[in-house]
Amino acid sequence: MCGIVGYVGHSAGRVNTGHNALDVVLEGLRRLEYRGYDSAGIAVVADGTISSRKKSGKLSNLIAELDASPLPESLTGIGHTRWATHGGPTDQNAHPHLADEGKLAVIHNGIIENFAELKLELTRKGVTFLSETDTEVAAALLADIYRNQLGGDSANGGLTKAMQLACQRLEGAFTLLAVHADQPDVVVAARRNSPLVVGLGDGENFLGSDVSGFIDYTRRAVELGQDQIVTITADTVEITDFYGAPAEGKEYHVNWDPASAEKGGFPSFMEKEIHDQPDAVLQTLLGRSDINGRLTLDELRVDPELLKNVSKIIVLACGTSAYAGQVAKYAIERWCRIPTEVELSHEFRYRDPIVDENTLIVSISQSGETMDTLMAVRYAKEQGAKTVSICNTNGSTIPRESDAVLYTHAGPEIAVASTKAFLAQITAAYLLGLYLAQLRGNKFQGEIKDILADLNKIPAKIQQVLDNEEQIKELGRSMADAKSVLFLGRHVGFPVAMEGALKLKELAYIHAEGFAAGELKHGPIALIEEGQPVFVVVPSPRGRDSLHAKVVSNIQEVRARGARTIVIAEEGDEAVKAYAEHVFYIPETPTLLAPLLSTVPLQIFALALASAKGYDVDQPRNLAKSVTVE
Ligand code: M6R
Repeated sequence: MCGIVGYVGHSAGRVNTGHNALDVVLEGLRRLEYRGYDSAGIAVVADGTISSRKKSGKLSNLIAELDASPLPESLTGIGHTRWATHGGPTDQNAHPHLADEGKLAVIHNGIIENFAELKLELTRKGVTFLSETDTEVAAALLADIYRNQLGGDSANGGLTKAMQLACQRLEGAFTLLAVHADQPDVVVAARRNSPLVVGLGDGENFLGSDVSGFIDYTRRAVELGQDQIVTITADTVEITDFYGAPAEGKEYHVNWDPASAEKGGFPSFMEKEIHDQPDAVLQTLLGRSDINGRLTLDELRVDPELLKNVSKIIVLACGTSAYAGQVAKYAIERWCRIPTEVELSHEFRYRDPIVDENTLIVSISQSGETMDTLMAVRYAKEQGAKTVSICNTNGSTIPRESDAVLYTHAGPEIAVASTKAFLAQITAAYLLGLYLAQLRGNKFQGEIKDILADLNKIPAKIQQVLDNEEQIKELGRSMADAKSVLFLGRHVGFPVAMEGALKLKELAYIHAEGFAAGELKHGPIALIEEGQPVFVVVPSPRGRDSLHAKVVSNIQEVRARGARTIVIAEEGDEAVKAYAEHVFYIPETPTLLAPLLSTVPLQIFALALASAKGYDVDQPRNLAKSVTVE
């Protein structure tokens, strides 16, 4: 939550790289706006003073403000796009917050938990506050230390030292960036439990909540550790801990292209990302098995003996990623015979869970920064569990703190509603399940090879679903007035139903619920009245356990009570036609793999319905892409 950018360009007298801080920071904010869009603000240091602008609402409001009231050219700047925590989304609460008589500007991502007591202390010293934010308290604390404790003297360590001392007093999670008029060539940043990456340029350096904050300028990035301070100038990057001890950052190369974070001709990132899905699954599969159908997940780097001894798996995730985990549970239990639980990360550590050294924790996170999941993983590690992360964001915190990582290769996902990351997560979880089955001998090699062959056919089948998208789009547009939509599924169709409902809630702001179809008669069927739209995810008629027949009965039960039924079924399933107003066919595939196909029409439906209502599908209200607060 909240996007942060910092920039320092070359000092006077050196070759001009031609970058005005304002342009760099605005470009970074444009790319990071998915992290929060309640307000945006920017501060630059020029001619010995700080100049800043900030505006509630989306970045476009700030740009309009800057057009009306331009900022001076500068080589040093910071920018922020906000997801509100303390104080509403007003101009006043927008970042940057100024202190030290306007000479210091601070931006922040996270929550400072002891802000109330610090505010009281500073108020007693005569500080007055203009906003309701915890950030302004951090700015005032920093100013107080810089001015009163260090004498406002850069010989005393200046802003860097002040930041170290301030961080020693702050509790909670934070990324802080500060610029001071006294040190016009410097941005100082601090990180505890919130994301921050350094971008290394030639005669210029960058800071960003993630690499998209500077991807237009450099692919060289440096990971920061927890509780670290970084001071950047145009030519230097110095990292210390909160007590001033020097620290090293780990440099890495960003291997995605800036173009992959553009809309590519689609009207929205979400639509583009839905269309990226064949490739997202393909890339996640690539290079992870050999021609004999053996999984080669060498990157996991967990002792195979440990994996052989796993007695329980707990999948930790939130939102869409948790639904990917629920799909994974069906596959892992079937293939590996290891009891697998799926738990929302934020519930996990508060219930005294039973975890030991034979427990394998599999966290799933697109961003790798979700605070709830990070905290749950840390807790599980403390209890002695081994942790594997399934993650889409290279170098992010959760994979870095896990014992092993299996990256999904979906490419950058910008739209707040997750689509391609979901399919890539499910794919990675299947690979992990098959790898465990291979290691533990639960499946013959031939069986694994066959499942992999089915998986390898999935990208082309997703493309087939996309090629028929017009039919489902039309339905979505025609249902723009719907007040409530229900989704039913059984087995792996259940998490798909919940994902379909979540997409509709977050994009179209209408009531939507996903139910296990078998649960219907235990209560939810009371919701059905004349005309109630009900989506039903129907399993393959070729599958086992008469699942198909059970779901067809459920369709009849809701139809008998007036529901309008919309069915996602497998090609060739003629039986469902008699009970559905609309049928959308997906290509034949084994039941366990079907979520990779059946989810896609539900994504397209939500996109089309929300677009018909005129909503911004990339930036739905009240949400942010990375949920970095608990
Ligand atoms: O980055 P993560 O996968 O950890 O994020 C988890 C959820 O916040 C995320 O899936 C959220 O539910 C999406 N908005 C769903 O579209």
